[in-house]
Order: sequence, then C-alpha cells, then structure tokens
Amino acid sequence: MTEAIHFDPLAPEQREDPFPLLELARREQPVFYAPHLDLWVVTRYDDVLKVLKDHRTFSSAGALLSRKSALPAQAHEVLAEGWPDMPYIIDVDPPLHDRIRGLVVRAFTPRRVAEMEPRVEAIAGELIDGFAHEGRADLIERFAWPLPLSVLGEMLGIPHVDLPRLHEWGQDWLLLQQERPTDEQVSHARGLVEMQRYFVSALEDRAREPRDDLMGALMAAREDLTVPEVAGVPLDLMVAGHVTVTRAIGSALALAFAHPELREQLADPERAPLAAEEVLRLESPAQGLFRRTTRDVELGGRALPAGARVMVHFGSANRDDAVFDDPDTPRPQRDALNKHLAFGKGIHFCIGAPLARLELRVALPMLLERLPNLRAADEPPQREPIFFARGFRKLVVEWDA
Ligand code: HEM
Repeated sequence: MTEAIHFDPLAPEQREDPFPLLELARREQPVFYAPHLDLWVVTRYDDVLKVLKDHRTFSSAGALLSRKSALPAQAHEVLAEGWPDMPYIIDVDPPLHDRIRGLVVRAFTPRRVAEMEPRVEAIAGELIDGFAHEGRADLIERFAWPLPLSVLGEMLGIPHVDLPRLHEWGQDWLLLQQERPTDEQVSHARGLVEMQRYFVSALEDRAREPRDDLMGALMAAREDLTVPEVAGVPLDLMVAGHVTVTRAIGSALALAFAHPELREQLADPERAPLAAEEVLRLESPAQGLFRRTTRDVELGGRALPAGARVMVHFGSANRDDAVFDDPDTPRPQRDALNKHLAFGKGIHFCIGAPLARLELRVALPMLLERLPNLRAADEPPQREPIFFARGFRKLVVEWDA
C-alpha cells in the first residue's frame, strides 16, 4: 500500500503545526509507515492505548531510540568506557522494569513530592525575582529550564553548581538517540558516560554515608539491584523530568497568549490544575515515544512485522475526536480530560506526573501574576528541533515592568 501521509515532523510547517496532518492520518491511514524514519506511526486513540497496554507485543527496549541507523564504532568505544548496559526504566521490559519501577516507587514517594511544594514555590519565586524588573526575557532560558532542573537537583541531592553540566549531559543522552553526524555522536557518547560516572559516584558516596535525599533513599531501598542498575534511575529522572516540564511551561504560555479564556484559568490558582492538564492534552510535550514489535501483529488494519519500530503518537491520540469533542479548542472543563495520554498509560505510565503537575500549578499562575500584561514579544519563537517532542527552545516575552 502506498502511504498517503507525508510525515515530515521536522519540516518547518509540520513542526509548527503537525495537527492537520495527524488528523488526516487518523481519518485515512491511522497506522502508517514513515520510511525515512523507519517508523510505524500509530495515530488513533484506541490503537495507541492498545500498544501501551500490550507491553509483551510492543517492547520498550529502545523506547527512546529515534535514530534509524546504528551508532558508529567510535561512539561504541566511548560507551564501552562507561556502562553500555545500564538499564533505564523507560527503556526496559519486565521483569527488570518491575524491579526498577518498584525501587522508584519505594523512594520517590508521594510524601517526598508533596514536601517539595514550598521549595517549588520558593525556587519559582527566586527565578522570577531575578528578571522581573527587566520587562523582556527568553522565558525558556530564564525560567522553564532552570525551574524543573533545580527542583529535581534538590530532590536528588545534587549540588547546584553541577546542574548546568547535568543539563548538557542530558541533552547528549537525548541527542545520542537521534540521527547525527559521526563526530557529534562520539561527543554525545562522551557526555552520557560522564553522566553515568557522575551518578555512580554520587550513589557510592551515599552507600558510604547515607543521606536523606532521593539518591540516598534509592540506595537505602535498592535491595539486590547493583549500583549501576540504580544509577540509571536518577539519570532517567533527571532527563525525563526536566525537558518535559520545560516544554509544558513554554507551550502553556504560548497557548495562553492566543486564548484569553485559557489564560484566565491558568492565572487562577484554583483553576490552573485543570487548565494545565488541557495544555498537556493539546500540546503533549512528549508527542510520541517508541516501541519495537516482538512478533507479527495487526494494528489499525495494517500488518506490522516482528521487529518493526513503532511510534505511539500521544499527541495525535490526545486530539482524536472519537474521544475528545472539538479537540483543537482549549476547554479545560471537558468531560474526557482525564482520558488524555500525555503521561502515557500502562506499565510505563509517567512516574513523575505528580511532580510535573505540582510544578505547573505553582509556576503558571505565578508567572501570569508576577509579570503583568505578559505577552509574546515581536521576536518569533523557536521550536525545539526534536521530532517526537513539542515545545520551544526560545520564547521571548515582554511584560510591564
Ligand atoms: C509535563 C511533564 C511530563 C510529561 C508530559 C511526561 C511524559 C511521560 C510519558 C508519555 C511517559 C511514558 C513513556 C512510555 O510509555 O514509553 C513518561 C514516563 C516517565 N516519566 Fe514522565 N513526563 C513528564 C514529567 C516527568 C517528571 C517531572 C519526571 C521525574 C521527576 C518524569 C519521569 C518519568 C519516568 C522515570 C518515566 C518512565 C516510567 C517507566 O518507564 O516506568 N516525567 N513520562
């Protein structure tokens, strides 16, 4: 069958607005193959749910792997200096997944998250204090990156001075999963190995001298997991837990500028939680992630061979009118809102969702209150160049200082 859908998520018009094409796909070819990415893209809500709920057929090994070709030998040599088999919770199947997830559940408790609320407020407030008098700023650089990064750093017990390095290494890890020129891949591999060493050494410190931070709690609860197996957890939390919140903050503001009613709701601490949830549905910071089929399987009328790479498109599922009426319009009061899949579903459901929700419900009303008449500046925003993500890398705004 020829593919009717020309999926090119990095082309400027699709990057800006991928939704008309995804709507066409849901109608005409709900599961389609994108040869240049070697991906079967799943666009309807029901099919996305089927994939997420059947982890035996749709393996998560390689869930982050968005490149099609193998890494060059030099990158493998660099990775061999670290822990090439370090398991990352998002990227492994049961039974190892259950052991690691169990560890995270024991250490990353609701109490630990709830205790962060005053700190999230304080950190957000201090960041805004740093630029409120300026009247104009790139909100991504000044706020949307540093907030979730600092919050996670504090929870894990990472000294503040180390955060910029971790941010860079986190980018290396994500970029290593993508198609890049060879020399860049070697340098991204170096960044990942540095990050692995950083966390292995931080956990070993806590083995010698227990500490009451999240890394200390992970070591205390580790049972028979080895230190490198545990080290994948803070590494994953650090990366999964800040880029996504960064994107959500930027997308919430851009939507608020375009939709006055949504803006009012985001500015009101009482109504902000639902409004933020509607932003996540509409703009899904992780537009899609990946799976690999373990057997031949039929999905959405197509026959997928064993070993096929699949992209579960949360962003498309979240605008499927079979589930969400008038899906492109922000309506935080909609009945089906709690069905959105921006945090996934099934065994890999986002373990950081309570923290992300806390950060958004604190940060968004605070920004809109403390920066009066906040608005888009004349400088055009820049989108993030990652094809399975949706967010901004630069969003310049102005306000009445
Ligand atoms: C708005 C913010 C966020 C969004 C949209 C988001 C989205 C997601 C999605 C879609 C998944 C499922 C992955 C899959 O099925 O392959 C996931 C998993 C995960 N998320 Fe989040 N996330 C957010 C914030 C966070 C935060 C703040 C943390 C940590 C502090 C976090 C940590 C994780 C981890 C560790 C997993 C893997 C869980 C597993 O595999 O069992 N996320 N997230």
